[in-house]
Amino acid sequence: HAAQAHMTDLMTITRFVLNEQSKHPESRGDFSILLSHIVLGCKFVCAAVNKAGLAKLIGLAGETNVQGEEQKKLDVLSNDVFVKALISSGRTSILVSEEDEEATFVDPALRGRYCVVFDPLDGSSNIDCGVSIGTIFGIYMMKANEEPHLEDVLQPGKNMLAAGYCMYGSSCTFVLSTGAGVNGFTLDPSLGEFIMTHPDIKIPKKGKIYSVNEGNAKNWDTPTAKYVERCKYPQDGSSPKSLRYIGSMVADVHRTLLYGGIFMYPADKKSPDGKLRVLYEVFPMSFLMEQAGGQAFTGKERALDLVPKKIHERSPIFLGSYDDVEEIKVLYAAEE
Ligand code: AHG
Ligand code: MN
Ligand code: MN
Ligand code: MN
Repeated sequence: HAAQAHMTDLMTITRFVLNEQSKHPESRGDFSILLSHIVLGCKFVCAAVNKAGLAKLIGLAGETNVQGEEQKKLDVLSNDVFVKALISSGRTSILVSEEDEEATFVDPALRGRYCVVFDPLDGSSNIDCGVSIGTIFGIYMMKANEEPHLEDVLQPGKNMLAAGYCMYGSSCTFVLSTGAGVNGFTLDPSLGEFIMTHPDIKIPKKGKIYSVNEGNAKNWDTPTAKYVERCKYPQDGSSPKSLRYIGSMVADVHRTLLYGGIFMYPADKKSPDGKLRVLYEVFPMSFLMEQAGGQAFTGKERALDLVPKKIHERSPIFLGSYDDVEEIKVLYAAEE
């Protein structure tokens, strides 16, 4: 009967969030409504990704974004979907998207207490070859109730109320933290519902995988170069680590969360701030890692302590298993 009970006692993401909600009597359901709109956006993008090849949705959109990247059709489509879904939720005041140069200030008639920062489609370079891609988001509460201001989204990551990602791969997996641990849900296409499949995710304390673009090795600084060297030629007689690098942050982070190890996008001589964007890539993934018992480091400080000055600011990032990140912190401290 246990299996049957499991089958009929579906813990959907909606039910999960409402349960969480009941722990905060002061909340008026706004967060649940906001999250349901983010989930709707993910379901839409999941469907679009799954038929991208058929629906002529692969290839370039013919525009270039503020990052200087050629936008793919799915970058633009998913951005439109999330902006519209978030505005229509009536629970947001400011939106920051990788694909929009300026922050979106929501019309007063539709304003709510939350600010959402998001990467509508992460891993765009992998769209056309069918490799896993995703959506990443973080949620802040407005700092004060008066007029929304850019300061409301230039908060350190530790102020986020929630963060998560959706990975569009062999299955559609939604991973979320509202500040009390990390839970994973898998889309059941026959129900159109996300069902809890990974309760209370905890990252292994130490891993055997390192994940970095070795193609940038020529430009790495000493601590990064030393750390990667030790992964390949351990000095303590342990076996070398495996290298796994997918090139979609969502997929590399999801594997790191479940299997353990370290994911790195270090600074290099060409890009001294690394490549990944603070608000909608570094912060949400760092938030999740800490909530799962891991940690996230910029090479200088705890990633979530960083105070961004600009909405598309970048930062180097080392995140994953607690002990693995601790090792690289020691190497950077020795450099000071
Ligand atoms: P996006 O597709 O949203 O621009 O993000 C791509 C990012 C991230 O997903 C990944 O970790 C990184 O780019 C890979 O960069 P390299 O190809 O330079 O390794
Ligand atoms: Mn991009
Ligand atoms: Mn991205
Ligand atoms: Mn993107």
